[in-house]
Amino acid sequence: MSSPKDRIGVGIIGCGKISQAYFDGAKTFEVLKILACADLNEATAQAKAEENGCEAMNIAGLLANPAIQLVINLTIPAAHAAVSRDILKAGKHAYCEKPLTVQLEDAQDLLVLAKSKGLLIGCAPDTFFGAGIQTCREIVDSGEVGTITSGTAFMLCAGPESWHPNPGFYYLLGGGPVFDMAPYYLTALVNLIGPIKRVCAMTTKAHESRIASSPEREGEVLPVEVNTHASGTLEFHSGAIITAVFSFDVHAAEHSPIQLYGTQGSIKVPDPNTFGGPVERLIAKDEAREWKEVELTRPYSENTRSIGVADMARAILNKRPHRASGALACHVLEVMHAFDQSSESGRTIEIESQPGRPAALPAGLAQGKLD
Ligand SMILES: NC(=O)c1ccc[n+]([C@@H]2O[C@H](COP(=O)([O-])OP(=O)(O)OC[C@H]3O[C@@H](n4cnc5c(N)ncnc54)[C@H](O)[C@@H]3O)[C@@H](O)[C@H]2O)c1
Repeated sequence: MSSPKDRIGVGIIGCGKISQAYFDGAKTFEVLKILACADLNEATAQAKAEENGCEAMNIAGLLANPAIQLVINLTIPAAHAAVSRDILKAGKHAYCEKPLTVQLEDAQDLLVLAKSKGLLIGCAPDTFFGAGIQTCREIVDSGEVGTITSGTAFMLCAGPESWHPNPGFYYLLGGGPVFDMAPYYLTALVNLIGPIKRVCAMTTKAHESRIASSPEREGEVLPVEVNTHASGTLEFHSGAIITAVFSFDVHAAEHSPIQLYGTQGSIKVPDPNTFGGPVERLIAKDEAREWKEVELTRPYSENTRSIGVADMARAILNKRPHRASGALACHVLEVMHAFDQSSESGRTIEIESQPGRPAALPAGLAQGKLD
């Protein structure tokens, strides 16, 4: 059993669809103690608090609570910047769902604010901590497939309006397939092969409005403010070139999520919106020249959302860098903006930020441990 000094008191702001995954995931990590939750809609916060055995508070009360050291921001993208700013200004560490903010300048300001206050800022996704991507990281770092020179990333679907109870925000500024789904793919790629140097892309949309079919919003017309199909080429500082397509305009397709091509072989990376496998690898010198499924060498193959928060909590206690960092999310945000910027200008966009790769998780970790 951990003592209170090995634990970080946590509050959650935003008690919508994704919040239960955080309440559930946090149970894996003794370092996290969720004390309270809040939402613009007080009844929503009350219901989540009752379901999860914590206190429902109003937002100001949660931010003023001295027992809470870290606040998780699970509001909608348009609210991320203001809510994270309030969290930091209240003197608490902030961890936000993706995207870090909508506007890049707001994200950069948050990093400066956090640093000036000696606080950490972190951001989802944390799926790259999972057994699937960490096993791929071990393969890449071992050199078994040589140097990664190219690859593909495909996220092709028909959009969230058939299943999400509140799908409107996915088609407003801060939504769309790039801002909603590319964080998983880009974060996984930066974790595997390092930061991105240049982006060249074209973007478009198939519809000016969409019709919700989820039971909660059946028939509601959703205006489409953002592009819903983006096709780009990413050049990494390592020299690798990745073809990336993110779309809410595709009803059926058969590409695998991420493939990496190295000088000695290839890797099929699993869906970066999940924690598990399968991971497949083909080594060019093997006589059979077949894809072979690889045993996952790391823990966390189940849905463990909140592992990025737990890692940040351990980073606070152990005074070490956290992996799902604001700097990494800010880089991903700059790359996401570059898709539309490149399409509109007809130019290749240079990316200014250049974070390092997050440290790989150590081998042989027990469930619930990060160090
Ligand atoms: N739903 C998913 O499957 C999923 C998966 C991964 C990540 N996310 C991300 O999680 C975030 C939330 O998504 P969701 O699906 O839970 O949305 P949601 O609409 O279901 O919930 C958002 C909640 O935030 C509250 N809220 C909005 N503005 C607020 C503010 N200023 N202060 C306090 N509360 C506020 C709303 O009242 C609502 O209860 C988004 O950034 C989304 O990209 C969602």
